This record gives sequence, C-alpha cells and structure tokens, in this order.
Amino acid sequence: MVYEVYLRSFADGTGDGLGDVPGLRSRLAYLADLGVDALWVTPWYPSPMADGGYDVSEYRDVDPRFGTLDDVDALLADAHALGLRLVVDLVANHTSSEHPWFRAALAAAPGSRERTRYFFRDGRAGGEEPPNDWISAFGGPAWTRVRELDGRPGQWYLHLFAPEQPDLDWDSPDVQEEFDGIVRFWLDRGVDGIRVDAAPAMAKVPDLPDAGHPPDATFASSEWVDNPHWDVDAVHEVFRRWRRIGDTYDGERLFVSEAVVNGPERLARYVRPDELHTTFNFDYLKAPWDARALRAVVEGTLAALAPVGAPATWVLSSHDETRHVTRFGRADSGAAVMGFDAAAPADLALGLRRARAAALLTLALPGGAYLYQGEELGLPEVEDLPEEALQDPTWERSGHTARGRDGCRVPLPWSGDRPPFGFAPDGVSPWLPQPASWRSLTAQAQRDDPSSTLSLYRDALRLRRQLLGEEPLTWLDLGEDVLAFDRGSALRCVVNLSARPVPLTGLGTVLLTSGGAAADLPPDTAAWLAP
Ligand code: NOJ
Repeated sequence: MVYEVYLRSFADGTGDGLGDVPGLRSRLAYLADLGVDALWVTPWYPSPMADGGYDVSEYRDVDPRFGTLDDVDALLADAHALGLRLVVDLVANHTSSEHPWFRAALAAAPGSRERTRYFFRDGRAGGEEPPNDWISAFGGPAWTRVRELDGRPGQWYLHLFAPEQPDLDWDSPDVQEEFDGIVRFWLDRGVDGIRVDAAPAMAKVPDLPDAGHPPDATFASSEWVDNPHWDVDAVHEVFRRWRRIGDTYDGERLFVSEAVVNGPERLARYVRPDELHTTFNFDYLKAPWDARALRAVVEGTLAALAPVGAPATWVLSSHDETRHVTRFGRADSGAAVMGFDAAAPADLALGLRRARAAALLTLALPGGAYLYQGEELGLPEVEDLPEEALQDPTWERSGHTARGRDGCRVPLPWSGDRPPFGFAPDGVSPWLPQPASWRSLTAQAQRDDPSSTLSLYRDALRLRRQLLGEEPLTWLDLGEDVLAFDRGSALRCVVNLSARPVPLTGLGTVLLTSGGAAADLPPDTAAWLAP
C-alpha cells in the first residue's frame, strides 16, 4: 500500500504553518505503525507555488520552505530503516514560468532554440486569437499571449494547466536529455520510484490541430477520443525511455503514472512491459457507491491489465479530489476527476460508514492500493473554507465559480483539542485553517480506540499483509447489491451496498468488519472473513 503524502499539509517541522520534509521525517513512525509499504511525496522542488509545487522552477533541489537536499537524504535514510520506500513526484509536462528555460524563451526571439523547448506559436486572426481551441484543466483557454522584447503583443504559449505552468515540447532533444538527467539525479539519490505527473499530456499531435472542443467544454479527459493534446500515442516513447533508465538501477525502482484517460484499455497502454510499472486507476475513484458500477470497474480493470501483465491499483481520494467521506455522503456519489465539484449536500455519517466499507473493499482487491493522507482518519472535505483562504488556481481561473481542491488539502490533525492540532507548533496558523470539529478526528484521539477509522485501517493493513499475496479474485453471488468475492482461500470480502442487512451465517469466521454486529452485515458495511 502506497500512502500519498501531500507535503504542504502533512506535518510542519519548522513552524511556518506549511508542511515540510523535517515534519514528514518526524512522523515516519506513525506511517510504519499504520502498515504503509511506500510513500509518494508530492513535489518538494523550488517553486513559486502557483499550483502548490506542481510548477517547478528547479528540478534538482528542494524548496527552502520544504527543507534541503540534506533533509531529503535524512528522510530517505530513516524511511528505509523503517522499511518504507519512497516515491518522488516528477512534473515533466510543464515547468514553472519562473524556470530559467522559460525566462530564456521569453527573452529570445520567435523561432529560437529557447522557444522550441516549449510551444510558442503565432496566434490566429492576425495574432489576436489563440493558435487553436485547446483548453486548460483549470478553466479557460490553454494559451497565453506574450509581449515580445519590443513591448508589442507577440506569440502565444501553451499551458494545459495554469499560465504559470508552460507545457514543455517533448519532441525537443533538449527536453528529453534534461529529464534523463533529472530522473537519474533522484534515482542516484536513492529514491525508490517516480510518480509521473500529468502523464497523458506529455505528447501533442504535431501541428497542434484543433481538438473540436465545444465553446464551454470542461477538461473531461476520461471521455476524449483521439484528442490532440491528451493521451496521444507518442507519449509512450517517453516512458520507454525512462524505463530503460530505471532498469539500469539496483533494486526495483517503481514508476507510477497519473493518467486520467478514456477507459481501462487506454490505461493499460501505460503499463506495457517496457513502460511504467503501475498507474493510478481513476475509474475506481470516479465510481459511485453502487455495487454494479464498482464491480464493472473492478472487472474492467483486471481484464484490461491482464494481457499486459501489470498489477491493478485502487485509489479513492487524492489531493485533487473531493474526500470520499464527503463524496459517498452525497446523492451523486461518483467523483468528477479534478472536477472541482461545487458543494452538494452530504450526509457525513453515511459517507463515513461507506468510506470505512470502501476501505475494506479497496484493501481486499488484487494489486496495489493508494491511500491519501487523512483518509485513515476518516477526514471529510472542508467545504466552508473562507474565500480569502483559497489558494487553488482554479478559484481565480474559474472566475470564482469553482472553489477548487483546497478542501481536501487542509493540514492533518495530529493531536490536541484545537488548531493547529499538532500539525504545527501551538500558536502557528496552518496555511489552510482546520475545522475545530477535527478535535475528535486527530491521530492521537483515534490511536487507542479500537472502533476508530485509524484502527480499522491499521487492522486491515496488518491482515492484508499477513493473508494476501497474488491470489486471484473469484466473485460470489450474494445478491446484486452486494459485492462479495474470495481471494483464493485466504480471504472472503463482503460489502453490503443494499438497504437490508446481509446474513453472514455460513460464510466463514469474521476477521474484521467496518462496523456493526458480526452476524448480520448492516447496509453500507463490509466484512472480511476467513472462508
Ligand atoms: C496533477 C496533480 O496531481 C495536480 O495537483 C496538478 O495540479 C496537475 N497535475 C498539474 O501538474
């Protein structure tokens, strides 16, 4: 199980209200005790923070707000000593607009080598209109016009995310070679893997044709077919290149991609034997709390990955999505990936019950699981952050219509009965305010309570480690609103998505439930049994 550390919000070791590497290092024992196998740490590189660090201005260093390279070395040493592997986040589709390459491109003339590392193009309609109809994931067009050195409006540059995140042109040999070096830099330092940010964006159809987006299109990449700026086949060359580099290192170095694409067959292409090892499975994250929908995703995923021989992964939440306690408490419980959904009413008690059941489902499925920090505490989305606190670029880019992703990024509550709840030293304000109601959800409050969500995750992870290996999944029929399956003879998992209790009599010895009595499994509850 890989645990996502959203570094800005995990633990503040330096007392400035922002999470950092020393803070993470000080909490490694918690992660080892939880039963984590590996950490994926979100970007720590020097960054102007236009997108929370996904706008990198220097790839071989650590932002002073997050620590130093020495801190990273110490983190790696401590993590490895505890048996934890560490995966870094590599943002290679775009740099920051403050990156020396982009500054040089702005200072250079149209057609110069400096500009070929990015996508600089002349506009249409005499230069007034963007070169094509491509859109940004954060809203609005994917192009921004620059002023040339003479002060006049000039070319446009491409940014599939914020304007502060210009897209690199991966056809440029400069780009390819620079990133070979960056990949090696971190592998040489001893990291165990690399998470590839925005993987499907890293190739564009030459000549940049229109995508045919309708005027009010949103960034619905899981629905796009033959899109010229997303999931273009040439993207796989980059991953083959990186895999060749990774394979020259000792031990298993893991590449995992963030790829929101159209269906499991397109996704499976990222994990062909000579490409990445695993990829996040957003279809699972998007699925509503519905037995048929979830089963269809599980079956579709396993069927698509079998031919390429890659393990499945399962993920319910991340720093880009509404926390699933809140999502599962809504009438429409499916997620819009990076969809920045507006607050719809949520029944949080129901959502937590389902989230706990979903944890047992997720951890019983074959393959790897990704857990987002705070999920093990049952944290809900914070939906009432004051507008002046919002920092996600979506808020500005959408003209204040979409609040963005800050609600799932609120710093973790560790201990104590008021903010900053041990996230930072007392008296320090975290970079996003924590709700006072989180006093009952701190790690400390849950640690010794056997009925807490933290205990459920710890118990489940321990059992998973003890019982589960490569056993195949076999479905059982307990009714259409019930997900039930065996993992060989090691474990039986029953998840009740119906409105009625499901009798467990005769199904085996109950090892763990997400809530309720053992004889009958209540609605929105899951059980693990020894068959
Ligand atoms: C995906 C990251 O998870 C997200 O936080 C970021 O905004 C985009 N990629 C752009 O880098």
